[in-house]
Amino acid sequence: MAKVSRLDKYLANSGAGTRSEVKDFIRKGCVTVNGLICKKPEQKIDEEADRVCLNDEIISYTEFEYYMFYKPAGCVTATQDNTHKTVMDYIVSSRKKELFPVGRLDIDTEGLLLITNNGELAHRLLSPAHHVTKAYYARIDGRITEKEIQAFAQGLDIGEARKTMPAILEVISCGETSQVVVKIREGKFHQIKRMFHAVGMEVTYLKRISMGNLKLDETLEKGQYRPLTEEEIALL
Ligand code: URA
Repeated sequence: MAKVSRLDKYLANSGAGTRSEVKDFIRKGCVTVNGLICKKPEQKIDEEADRVCLNDEIISYTEFEYYMFYKPAGCVTATQDNTHKTVMDYIVSSRKKELFPVGRLDIDTEGLLLITNNGELAHRLLSPAHHVTKAYYARIDGRITEKEIQAFAQGLDIGEARKTMPAILEVISCGETSQVVVKIREGKFHQIKRMFHAVGMEVTYLKRISMGNLKLDETLEKGQYRPLTEEEIALL
């Protein structure tokens, strides 16, 4: 079935500019539909069949956007907040109103956050039934021993009706403070911090490094983001 939309909306949704910028482009005659200049922003086009060009460059529409964001500490994972900066304050997109973060990282947690407008994918990544593994690098105040590794593997009582699912605790370095990678397959509120509390330890730094097969691109600076590559989208 034809997917019909207004020309200005189509261009804005394709990232060609804001709605008022694209209206300007259209009125100035920079836009063609099937080879003919169209100066009417309200012109209806078929997104699949019509060929739309801006300054002779073909504009292709993608329904979904996916961004990898390196969340810094100090911002909340929300679309709006009255007191704190939100992760969405970092994002510039003509389709920002549609976008949302997938899952939640605490205000002091850093690392990989996926931002998209694909609700179905978000549901799949977050749903407990799908058991998508999330890996976190953490610094812990205390010495990690075999006892903690076993406790994580067996599941911990963090004050919920059920114990946590088995989690993998890999030790990178061990001393008065330890560095670890923790892999969990669920995403309860403050889960990593609560798991360490359950074994009498404190998390002093937490960073998500992967979600399923998607790994944080360490060439991003904190607070930066980039679109996912086609390969990364396929991994999801
Ligand atoms: N677990 C936590 O405790 N905090 C996070 O931000 C993510 C997982």
